[in-house]
Amino acid sequence: MPLQELSASLHNCQRCKLAKLGRTQVVFGTGNPTASIMFVGEAPGSNEDQKGEPFVGAAGKLLDKLLESAGLSRAQVYIANVIKCRPPNNRDPEPDEVETCKPFLLQQIEMIQPKLVCTLGNWATQTILGKKVPITKVKASAIKLERFVVFPLLHPAAALHQGNLLETLHEDFKKLRAYLDRMDAPVTQAIPAAAAAPTPSPATQPQLDLFGS
Ligand code: URA
Repeated sequence: MPLQELSASLHNCQRCKLAKLGRTQVVFGTGNPTASIMFVGEAPGSNEDQKGEPFVGAAGKLLDKLLESAGLSRAQVYIANVIKCRPPNNRDPEPDEVETCKPFLLQQIEMIQPKLVCTLGNWATQTILGKKVPITKVKASAIKLERFVVFPLLHPAAALHQGNLLETLHEDFKKLRAYLDRMDAPVTQAIPAAAAAPTPSPATQPQLDLFGS
């Protein structure tokens, strides 16, 4: 099924309680449907709910700057959220809402086939890794799953609330740029054994490489 069809099929989604808790519309995702890099946030806020696009409020403006600093544009990448409807009063998503919506995020990833999925914040990171790992432990590291690499980053909204995280976020986007440059680099030497090892399935322990900390 093409991405547009999946989007259309969710247009009036009633699968979870968020449909009746004041959402204006389903916020499916935007960007390049064949992007090699995808960004995944948590859930739409009020600006996103009004506009129907992810990351268009204050956190989105910061994301735009961070993307630019890494030489990326919105048109190049694809941006989506773990859950597609705004939770009331910007509360955290509830487990049943994540369970209901997660299959659609996974289908988006399956259709777009990105090489790299940058998860923004704890929710997206833990949903994609299927593990309760704190973002501070894995941020700015490249974690190989079976079909793509996950590169967790702090959520831009966290840096808006806690100014001291802003510099870290900028540094982490520099690391993302460096990782992308390494991915693009032609292989001129034998691949080290660790890099040539078979990739683990998502169910197994994630492998941290490059900026692993
Ligand atoms: N925060 C998110 O996680 N997603 C958005 O779309 C906007 C803010």
